[in-house]
Amino acid sequence: MARLNVNGAVREFEIEPDTPLLWVLREQLGLTGTKYGCGIAQCGACTVHIDGVPTRSCVRPVSTVDASAKVVTIEGLSRDGSHPVQKAWAALDVPQCGYCQSGMIMAATALLKDKPNPTDADIDAAMTNICRCGTYNRVRAAIKVVAAGGDVKRAGLDIVHIARADANGGAA
Ligand code: FES
Ligand code: FES
Repeated sequence: MARLNVNGAVREFEIEPDTPLLWVLREQLGLTGTKYGCGIAQCGACTVHIDGVPTRSCVRPVSTVDASAKVVTIEGLSRDGSHPVQKAWAALDVPQCGYCQSGMIMAATALLKDKPNPTDADIDAAMTNICRCGTYNRVRAAIKVVAAGGDVKRAGLDIVHIARADANGGAA
């Protein structure tokens, strides 16, 4: 019997010790907000926190996670999407397909806890997650909104929705 502290609750389950944490979260514990992308620690879709450290759960054997360590998934950030990072993501319409976004949010949350007012270089260093929809600019903007206390205007951003006609050089 293995045991983990996930989102503030102790959970027990039967599992092979070399099973990646990601599969325990998704299959044993039903926490499907954390996604499988590459399986080789490259894309960040599977990012969760272990004692506050952003961790790619697809390559982390569950047996290496101490039972006393605090594992937090996207479901544990808030019950209702009210975490400041989630609110900034919603305010700026960051997600497109959404598949990478729980990993993005977990990485951003860890960054902002460590550096509440990150520079672009800090963001570049911390946000190595891959997004096939290309949401990188909005991810960066949303992090700056959180750093500005959730105030989009104070963050001094110039994020606008580009009309399709403009994006096509004026063609209808
Ligand atoms: S699924 Fe873990 S980093 Fe891609
Ligand atoms: S929003 Fe689609 S992969 Fe990132």
